This record gives sequence, C-alpha cells and structure tokens, in this order.
Amino acid sequence: MFNKNTLKLSIIICLITALSIFIFFTRHTQYHYHSVYREFYFVPLILAAFWFGLRGALWTAGGITLFYLAFIGFFWQGLSAEKINTFIEIIFLNIMAIILGSLREREYRERRRTQKMENLALIGKTVSGIAHDMKIPLVAIAGFSGRILKKLGEDDPHREKLTLIHQEAQRLESMVKDMLEYARPLNLRRVKENVNQLIQESIDVVKELAEKKQVIIKTKLFPGMPPVELDPVRMKQVLINLLTNAIQASSWGEPVLVSSSVKGGNIVIDVTDHGRGLAADQKEHIFTPFFTTKKEGIGLGLVMVKNIVSAHGGEVQFFDNPSRESGVTFRVILPREPEARYIANQK
Ligand SMILES: Nc1ncnc2c1ncn2[C@@H]1O[C@H](COP(=O)(O)OP(=O)(O)OP(=O)(O)O)[C@@H](O)[C@H]1O
Ligand SMILES: [Mg+2]
Repeated sequence: MFNKNTLKLSIIICLITALSIFIFFTRHTQYHYHSVYREFYFVPLILAAFWFGLRGALWTAGGITLFYLAFIGFFWQGLSAEKINTFIEIIFLNIMAIILGSLREREYRERRRTQKMENLALIGKTVSGIAHDMKIPLVAIAGFSGRILKKLGEDDPHREKLTLIHQEAQRLESMVKDMLEYARPLNLRRVKENVNQLIQESIDVVKELAEKKQVIIKTKLFPGMPPVELDPVRMKQVLINLLTNAIQASSWGEPVLVSSSVKGGNIVIDVTDHGRGLAADQKEHIFTPFFTTKKEGIGLGLVMVKNIVSAHGGEVQFFDNPSRESGVTFRVILPREPEARYIANQK
C-alpha cells in the first residue's frame, strides 16, 4: 500500500536520481557545476536523517557514495586535485550522515522517553482518582457483607451468594489498594535491615497461597548477610510480588527457590520458579503498567517491583532458567551502600 513512508522514500530516491542524472550529463570537466550539484546531495541526506534516523541517513549516504565512486571510475583519467576534493566531500557527506542520523535518533529517543513519562504520570493520576472514589463504597460493601455473613445461620439460603459478594468485594478492595499504592509517591524510609530476614517474613505472607498449590518454597540464603539500609516495608512488597508471581506461574507441587548472595558491592536476590516461563512477546511488556495475562491480575506488581528497586538504586533483571529447566528467575540487585547505584556489568 502507498503509505506515508513510501512517499518519503520516493521523494529521497527521486532527489538522488535527479541529481545523479544532472551530474552524469554535465561534462566532467565542468568542475564548478559538479561541486554545486554535490552540495545539493545534502537535501536528500537531511530529509533521510530527519524521516528515517541513522539508518536512513547511512543508506542515503551509501547510495550517493556508490553512485559517485562509479561516476569517478567511469571518467577516470588519473588522480587530480579536483578528484581529491571530491573524495573529501564524499567522506564529509558520510560523516554528516552519521552526525545528523545520530542526533535525530537521540532526539527521537528523548521524545519517546518524555512521552512515556507523561503517559505514566497521567495513568497514575487517573488510577488514583478512580481508586480513591472506589475505595469508600468497597470498604462499606466488604465490611457490611462480612458482618451480615457472621449473623447468618450455616444453612441460610442466602449464605452462598453473600459469601461470594463478600469475597469479591474484598478482592476489589485489595485491587484498589494496589492502585492507590502505585499512584503514591515513593518516599523511602530506610533503616538497617537484614535481607534474609525480609525474605523469611515475605515467605510467611505468601505461605497460604503456596500451600493451596502445594508449592514448596525453598531458600538458599547467604549465611553472613550484612545489614543494608533499605525500606523494609517496600522491600517486602517487592519480594511478596515476586513470590506471588512465581507461585501463580507454578504448576501443582512445583518448587520455588529464593536465594540471596553478596556480589561485590551488591546484594543479589533470586526468585526462581519452574512454571510456564515468559513468552518472547510478553518479555517486553511485563514492566508496563496494567499488562497482565491473569484473569484476576491488575498488572501493577512488577511495575511496583521495578519502581521500588530503582528507588533503592538497584535493578531488576529476569532470565529464562537453563534450557533443561522450565520457568524464570527474577533477580533483584541492590547496592549495599544507600547512596550507591547499581551499574550493569560492573565487576
Ligand atoms: N514468574 C513468572 N512466570 C511467568 N510469567 C510471569 C512471572 N511473573 C510475571 N509474569 C508475567 O508478567 C505479567 C505481569 O506481572 P505483574 O506482577 O506485573 O502483574 P500480575 O501478576 O498480572 O497482576 P498483579 O498486579 O496482581 O501483580 C503477569 O501477568 C505474567 O504474565
Ligand atoms: Mg503479580
């Protein structure tokens, strides 16, 4: 189909072709005309950089270079000062392609980043507005239905329906809590904490969920774990989210392993499951707000994990388990010093 990009590409190709035809049919002895025409090659080059970024600029510069080299070869009568000048101009054109293309790409990346931040801020604002309005009626529904439920006799015909109302209201209440949490600014309250202890406490929280699926949570914790300055409430939120995801992804009876270690100036926590793993197209979206593949998920768990860990100067990574094992490992890397930041590939 003839879309916008095809039109832009056609303009660039037409300009290069027209200029090349001009050059080809201008006698090669008329150096000054050639010099002027060559300057015009900057027009398609700038357009290509502007419309298609670095790749477009390089392809255009490459095309012009090829044409010009063929042209020089065709009329070759030995090396002259004019030819050297032409070579220099061609090299300059290629350098310009790299500069213009890179600048355009940088600007494009910057614009996308700002747009993403603006979108996230807007999502946060909308979410907090909706969640705030939903919170009060939901608390009332869950509270009243719970109270009525307690008063109903075991064999009351309304008991089953009311239990459902109560459970669903509680579920919605917890979703609203997550949404409000997401919109709340992250003000860390750091205290010296032992990560191993936080891991144990988080495992206690998800124990019931694990038991329901007979998932056994194993631990392999670093024995001499040094205390780190972090926000324990937030960090537990990270661990609970990762553990919940790992349990939810696991099949009946599969183990989940949590390990901690110290690597250089960092503390590393791995949560490994042997569940269905992450499909290639899911991998790029899992940190996007509201991305979920679960019927009852909101898609804010990993967003919160990433935000909290980043606020601690750390990083969240994930990778497939070795080929013979299914499932994924989520890795949290935290710098031991509060003011330090984790830098990838550091030794
Ligand atoms: N351990 C895992 N194994 C496989 N897929 C996972 C795992 N952890 C996360 N995912 C995928 O990433 C998606 C996003 O996870 P996230 O925790 O952000 O949201 P959620 O679990 O769907 O909902 P909630 O907001 O309740 O946590 C999940 O829906 C799931 O598809
Ligand atoms: Mg989750």
